[in-house]
Amino acid sequence: EFKDNTLVVVFGASGDLAKKKTFPALFGLYRDNFLPKGVHIVGYARTKMDEAEFHKRATQYIKNPDNSPEITEKIEEFKKLSSYISGSYEDSDAFENLEKHLQGIESAYQGDETHRLFYLALPPSVFIPVATNVKKFNYTTKGINRIIVEKPFGRDLDSSRELLGSLKKSWTEDETFRIDHYLGKEMVKNILVLRFANIALNAAWDKNSISSVQITFKEPFGTEGRGGYFDEFGIIRDILQNHLLQVLSVLTMERPVSFASEDIRDEKVKVLRAIPPIEPSDTLLGQYVAANGKPGYLDDDTVPHNSVCPTFAATTLWIHNPRWEGVPFILKAGKALNEAKVEVRIQFKDVTQGIFKDISRNELVLRIQPSEAVYLKLNTKTPGLYTRALPTEMDLTYKRRFQDAKIPEAYEALILDALKGDHSNFVRDDELDVAWKIFTPILHWIEGKNGAAPKPVPYPYGSRGPKELDAFIGKYGFRRSQEG
Ligand code: BG6
Repeated sequence: EFKDNTLVVVFGASGDLAKKKTFPALFGLYRDNFLPKGVHIVGYARTKMDEAEFHKRATQYIKNPDNSPEITEKIEEFKKLSSYISGSYEDSDAFENLEKHLQGIESAYQGDETHRLFYLALPPSVFIPVATNVKKFNYTTKGINRIIVEKPFGRDLDSSRELLGSLKKSWTEDETFRIDHYLGKEMVKNILVLRFANIALNAAWDKNSISSVQITFKEPFGTEGRGGYFDEFGIIRDILQNHLLQVLSVLTMERPVSFASEDIRDEKVKVLRAIPPIEPSDTLLGQYVAANGKPGYLDDDTVPHNSVCPTFAATTLWIHNPRWEGVPFILKAGKALNEAKVEVRIQFKDVTQGIFKDISRNELVLRIQPSEAVYLKLNTKTPGLYTRALPTEMDLTYKRRFQDAKIPEAYEALILDALKGDHSNFVRDDELDVAWKIFTPILHWIEGKNGAAPKPVPYPYGSRGPKELDAFIGKYGFRRSQEG
């Protein structure tokens, strides 16, 4: 349900996430008339700055490449809808002050019902004090209150439970929206449709037809400037435990009874519970080193010189249920690789040998980014007077098929969902818990909690990853197809 008169308060308003994602997404929704009537955006952070400076920062990542007058005008309107207030994250005075500011804005609504959406784009250290203070000082009694929180949600199972427990003292599960922005990506949202609206795919979606599944995240840049943060978390907490595991759960869950958010989340939790903790023997860790004129991970001043933090990880998960028993799910992610790409690659089994020899396997690829696409590698008879099976592609590239479609940003989709109170694409408490159960033992092993910490293998900046990767994937039966 969509509510008019909503105040959106963005904590951490001068931080990177807010500037790069939250404000541009709020603007995108405003531009396309998706924000409720009577919306007002309040930025809050410790940094002291005047409103003009805030407006400049909040709009600096909004794209208007052709300087279109229409967009320029919308940006000006958007500025008028937003204000800024600075204050600490811990003092009650600061939150009382914020409350005065909010009530000042609300006085224009003349007693109508008003609602509040609090967006915490904050580092974990201030997360609980802010959530607690907001509940105490800024919780409106006149309407609905919601809170959006960002990862990291803890470092392992125990710390995550502690965080959940503290948050639950002030906010109910129904009021809480835990963002994993991969769930807002168009191609990830497409997975349910591809699976459950197509009998041809649905019929082949199990261990009888599928040989392996790879979910891959590649970034062409290192941790430049973010080394300090990254070193505390590592690639597994940064990407695998959340983004890639979420994609995995949507790919493998059973069909939900309905599209209702709890029906979807029930099925996701169920499939995740069938995954045992990851084994060290199913894991390959890497760390990038200087190459091609680019610095290595350890060359970053903010990183300890002897850090064994992985910047690359490949790890295989197994799902013990009747649909997936024996199918390897390989999650891999790395920084400072040769390209930017996120994709799901489902490799099917061999056809019965006999008529054809050395035939390529079918593969279904969902390219999440860049350039969304779904393509199926299919063997086709070469045109002509003899019969030979040639690997070809059935290709649904969005740019070609949906030429005029505008693909929403993940954050636009998710903020809109939170404004409507739709939890489908947010992470539920029990889902987070089971995600940590899967990853905590391997993380503790990597951090040397039960012995010597394993050393990641080096890979050059700008490469495909560690040279051990092909053998690692090969171990799970993946076969590189001949290109058609
Ligand atoms: C974030 C990670 O969650 O996702 C970053 O902390 C990463 O390290 C980012 O760069 C990737 O998001 P996207 O949408 O650019 O694929």
